Amino acid sequence: MNFEELILKRQSDRKYLPDPVAKEDVIKCLEAARLSPSACNAQPWKFVVVDDKEKLAEMADAAEGLGMNKFTHGVPVIVAVVLEKMNASAKLGSLVKNKDYCMLDMGMAVEHFCLQAAELGLGTCIMGWFDEKRIAKLLNVPRGKRIPLIISLGYPAAPTRNKVRKPMEEISSWNEY
Ligand SMILES: Cc1cc2nc3c(=O)[nH]c(=O)nc-3n(C[C@H](O)[C@H](O)[C@H](O)COP(=O)(O)O)c2cc1C
Repeated sequence: MNFEELILKRQSDRKYLPDPVAKEDVIKCLEAARLSPSACNAQPWKFVVVDDKEKLAEMADAAEGLGMNKFTHGVPVIVAVVLEKMNASAKLGSLVKNKDYCMLDMGMAVEHFCLQAAELGLGTCIMGWFDEKRIAKLLNVPRGKRIPLIISLGYPAAPTRNKVRKPMEEISSWNEY
């Protein structure tokens, strides 16, 4: 798969086969995230992989709400992405330039994870809608640490869709805004 094919392949999968995911494939996705860029190389993330059946059931309950994320029941792996502290230079840069570098960093690492998963034939869905406190408690995340995102991971049970996106003219311009 070349890069263009890969980015068309990656999508938010909301239907999964019950088949387990090989640990080495999960590790490949983690490695892709580990190699992601970050402001001042702070790497302010920790990926907590959940494959324990009981915890998965609780994660799915915590992800579901107002009709969202019902599909998480039965997903073989869910990863909670914990926001870790930035290093001093990233923190200073973030403050001086008034930019949330750590959230940008995390978004990129999560996308690296998902692209690697797609390359392995796995499906993912990045989720920002879930009961964060409940997941933090379940996974023993230290008090005060945020979990901006969770990611479902498994073999997709639905075909690849066409992308629905804004037109090129709306999302880009050349030489001026
Ligand atoms: C930060 C973020 C949060 C998201 N939260 C959810 C979510 O809670 N539930 C869900 O089903 N999809 C969620 N999505 C997936 C988006 O809906 C999806 O990426 C978008 O519609 C584009 O579709 P595609 O990923 O299939 O290309 C989220 C995506 C991002 C990047």
